[in-house]
Amino acid sequence: MPAALVTGAASGIGKATAERLRADGFDVLGFDLEDGDLSTREGNRAAVDAALERFGRLDVVVANAGIQHVSPVAEFPEDKWDAILAILLTSPFLLAKYAWDALQESSGRFIAVASAHALVASPNKAAYVAAKHGVLGLVKTLALEGLQATAVCPGYVRTPLVEAQIPDQAKAHGMSEDDVLEEVILAPHAVKRLIEPDEVANVIAFLAGPGGAAFSGVPVTMDLGWSAR
Ligand SMILES: NC(=O)c1ccc[n+]([C@@H]2O[C@H](COP(=O)([O-])OP(=O)(O)OC[C@H]3O[C@@H](n4cnc5c(N)ncnc54)[C@H](O)[C@@H]3O)[C@@H](O)[C@H]2O)c1
Repeated sequence: MPAALVTGAASGIGKATAERLRADGFDVLGFDLEDGDLSTREGNRAAVDAALERFGRLDVVVANAGIQHVSPVAEFPEDKWDAILAILLTSPFLLAKYAWDALQESSGRFIAVASAHALVASPNKAAYVAAKHGVLGLVKTLALEGLQATAVCPGYVRTPLVEAQIPDQAKAHGMSEDDVLEEVILAPHAVKRLIEPDEVANVIAFLAGPGGAAFSGVPVTMDLGWSAR
């Protein structure tokens, strides 16, 4: 049976992805904060080792775990910058490095959950936007070095990560929380709705399966028209 490691699997996109890959016949190890801290080298090593110990192989790595912080650059807490870069950019690098041999052996796939913010910026999200642009660069480099890698780039998805930023966005924009969803969160989408976690899991499952065989070194954009402008 093919085996997959999914980080950030306790919530949102990671949870939906782990469930979907299991339904598609993968053995899946979900890794989240309760299993280790992916902002450390040890945590990433532990995630890969745990999957290899349990399954003896690794066919798919989904680097998904993430956090957000909303603040203008002039006030952006430097510790938050470090934490966001560690989880969104360094963790995917370490996962690819530590899983390299196993993925070569299986002709496996590395799938980073990036974001529309890998392609376009928004104000007040310097660390997130920089890290997501960076992870697309990482995926391109992995592809050129011989690992089949893609970066899924969704617009806004209905998860706790988005719900948690509504109060901060309200503060940053001086708006009520009610208006933030309509006027800030959904403003860049040409189609005015949130994406569901299952829709992202579907795309990841496609990229992990036979349909994804020719994709490497590219963003796979699913942003309801955001980056068309
Ligand atoms: N929600 C969106 O609108 C959206 C859009 C585009 C991309 N993304 C990306 O999708 C990914 C998943 O986000 P989500 O929206 O499902 O968020 P979420 O908050 O629902 O889930 C993120 C998970 O990552 C885990 N995590 C965070 N830091 C960790 C750490 N140091 N070690 C281990 N686990 C850690 C959390 O515990 C959580 O379970 C992120 O990379 C995010 O940037 C989200």
